[in-house]
Amino acid sequence: MLIAYASRTGNVVRFVQKLPFKRCLRIQTGKEMVDEPCVVITYTTGFGEVPKEVLEFAQRNRTHIRGVAASGNRNWGALFARAGVILSQQLGVPLLHQFELAGWEKDVQTFVQAVLCLSAAQHNQPINSTTSTQPQER
Ligand SMILES: Cc1cc2nc3c(=O)[nH]c(=O)nc-3n(C[C@H](O)[C@H](O)[C@H](O)COP(=O)(O)O)c2cc1C
Repeated sequence: MLIAYASRTGNVVRFVQKLPFKRCLRIQTGKEMVDEPCVVITYTTGFGEVPKEVLEFAQRNRTHIRGVAASGNRNWGALFARAGVILSQQLGVPLLHQFELAGWEKDVQTFVQAVLCLSAAQHNQPINSTTSTQPQER
């Protein structure tokens, strides 16, 4: 799974550096295009908002985005990491995790587990669900 991430002041970069995933793409302008399944990690800006470049990236690549996660700061109370909630609702994909700043070890573990579950679910899906009415063998 490709990890596409956006960072303004470096916290999300530091979080991504702690991940075991090799394939990562930094969203800089929002004009980046991907051609494979990906998870987006964003920071939260404004008053609980999704950064502009992330919104543009999401619009361009929405068919490839399988899940999202967001960084924030708990000082923002109810708006903590709200970019993740908004983006997941807009795209109709799961919100995998919300973490503070660059995240702690526990945040890394939670996020990694969620991505691995997504990848596994994807590989177990029938190739054409409209022609398969039988439960899938495991
Ligand atoms: C102008 C500004 C607005 C922010 N608004 C929020 C917010 O609404 N909710 C939140 O949880 N964090 C908010 N934050 C905190 C950042 O999302 C947080 O520091 C994040 O880790 C930044 O990631 P980055 O260093 O990768 O850019 C804001 C930070 C700035 C500078």
